[in-house]
Amino acid sequence: DAAEMDGYEHFMMKEIHEQPKGLYETLTRRLNEDDTINLDGISMTKEDIENFNKVYIVACGTAYHAGLVGKAAIEKMARIPVEVDIASEFRYRDPFVDDKTLFIAISQSGETLDTLAALREAKRKGARILSVVNVVGSSVARESDDVFYTWAGPEIAVASTKAYTTQLMCMYLLALYMGHTKGVIDKDYYARFIEELKQIPDKLEDLLKKEKEIEAVAKKYCRKEQVFFIGRGVDSGVSYEGSLKLKEISYINSFAIAAGELKHGTIALIEEDTLVFALATQDFLFEKMLSNIQEIKARGANVVGVAKEGNREIEKQSTEVIYIPDCMDEVTPLLSVVPLQLFAYFVAKFRGCNIDKPKNLAKSVTVE
Ligand code: G6P
Repeated sequence: DAAEMDGYEHFMMKEIHEQPKGLYETLTRRLNEDDTINLDGISMTKEDIENFNKVYIVACGTAYHAGLVGKAAIEKMARIPVEVDIASEFRYRDPFVDDKTLFIAISQSGETLDTLAALREAKRKGARILSVVNVVGSSVARESDDVFYTWAGPEIAVASTKAYTTQLMCMYLLALYMGHTKGVIDKDYYARFIEELKQIPDKLEDLLKKEKEIEAVAKKYCRKEQVFFIGRGVDSGVSYEGSLKLKEISYINSFAIAAGELKHGTIALIEEDTLVFALATQDFLFEKMLSNIQEIKARGANVVGVAKEGNREIEKQSTEVIYIPDCMDEVTPLLSVVPLQLFAYFVAKFRGCNIDKPKNLAKSVTVE
């Protein structure tokens, strides 16, 4: 193991640091010289894309969280209704699937039994099957009509990091391709989006330099027994992932919720010294998030804000703020998840947990 660790103490930390490279690979292998997206090896045609009237994204765990962001991207860019479902739920509820359905399975390992079973069910009902998979030649890959590979490289740590961000990259590329093919997005938006994606690996390198800063936040809060994560829009999807990372490796009871939904119940749990991560990376939702943060602060909670560089107004309301590099609202999940991964990592480390092999969890779940 030591040789493969490259000097890192844990695979998880190594894999967090491999994200810029994984994202670069995943992007450039699908990009032509002229910035068009190549679907080499994918048989789905322009007619197929025009024919779909519905998309299902089905997955488990972290891959499901990538699906939540994928839904936002596909709906926005390709203007097709998208449902995201947990694989173990999808297969037992007789979903509305036919030959006008695009079924997207997301799976790092390509061996998750629930995901595989959902895929078979969708196939039986006539859907077109496209999968976003990391392990080449895995069961999910073999049973799909088409595979959009993530180029994360092998992921060893049970808690998924680089698989998630590269899955997001695939979802953006797919959404862009579909939107472009259908003529829904204009040339300028397309060009601007591709430019943003190209800048992500460098921005992520910059963000990783804040490791010490995040370690200090983790040290301060590592004894908490409960942590909340809130956000709106794509930030809510990232909140779920941040919360999952924390509970997986530090065993802290964490909970994520769409910020606007707090007032309908969960706010009852917010009291003096409760820790809340508030993701506020969306410019058009920023004011709304600030008022959510205010409500929480008024109850004496500690708020760690995550915002874009430049949106400094958040400092007035938060206990700490972690800034991510400025970028387009749509692509913030590629960056904002990283401080949450690092926070979970350092908290687990301070608590003396087995980071790469947490108790009760398996890297790939091949039973129901
Ligand atoms: C397991 C792992 C998770 C992972 C999930 C889905 O529960 O512990 O980290 O997200 O399976 O795995 P997959 O390989 O299908 O992405």
